[in-house]
Amino acid sequence: MDPKAMYKLSYGLFVLTTKFFDKDNGCIINTAIQAASEPNQISICVNKANLTHDMVMQSREFTVSIISQDATFDLFKRFGFQSGKDADKFEGFSDKVKRGANGIYYVTEGTNAYISVKVEKTEDLGSHTMFVGTITDMEVLSDSPSATYAYYFDNIKPKPEAVGKTPEGETIWRCRICGYEYVGEELPEDFICPVCKHPAEDFEKVVK
Ligand SMILES: Cc1cc2nc3c(=O)[nH]c(=O)nc-3n(C[C@H](O)[C@H](O)[C@H](O)COP(=O)(O)O)c2cc1C
Repeated sequence: MDPKAMYKLSYGLFVLTTKFFDKDNGCIINTAIQAASEPNQISICVNKANLTHDMVMQSREFTVSIISQDATFDLFKRFGFQSGKDADKFEGFSDKVKRGANGIYYVTEGTNAYISVKVEKTEDLGSHTMFVGTITDMEVLSDSPSATYAYYFDNIKPKPEAVGKTPEGETIWRCRICGYEYVGEELPEDFICPVCKHPAEDFEKVVK
């Protein structure tokens, strides 16, 4: 069995947003798909370690803004490389969001559409919860093509220098999923990426 087969899967990229009482939050996900057409349903899978996960569990409503090829790395840094547990991700971002009919922010820059969903079902999948729901609202925002995960890696994410060692001579391990770099001779077997929450097997030793 070759685990690299998993890397052949293709994904879109999305800003998943929600609101619970006064708190707005959101994170980057690659797991939104149309799950059925009659009734029209969307599913998303969100890591239980994410604040957005707990908030969707409570609010039972979310919006996915579909990321387009116009997006810059700043959008990914803001929503994918920090947690709403430590930061207000909407601070200084008010000109790039609007509230939809459900009261939840959708992102208007670097996106081409948004879809708002009311959660009907949840499924505990271990590390992640799958949320399935019906669409309550949706709009097209631009004609720019949607960004795939491959497009993000090739064109949006800054290329890390392909060096195997830090200037101090330590080994670097890089997460194949989000690019996070761990410095150390051996990567602990139970290591979990602090950014995208993927396990040690998704890390590769960076070689010159
Ligand atoms: C390119 C990219 C894709 C990601 N895909 C997912 C995903 O599908 N599911 C998920 O739960 N987290 C995913 N993440 C990680 C979350 O966006 C990240 O952990 C975020 O900081 C969580 O924020 P929160 O704690 O405020 O919810 C992804 C991050 C990046 C950069």
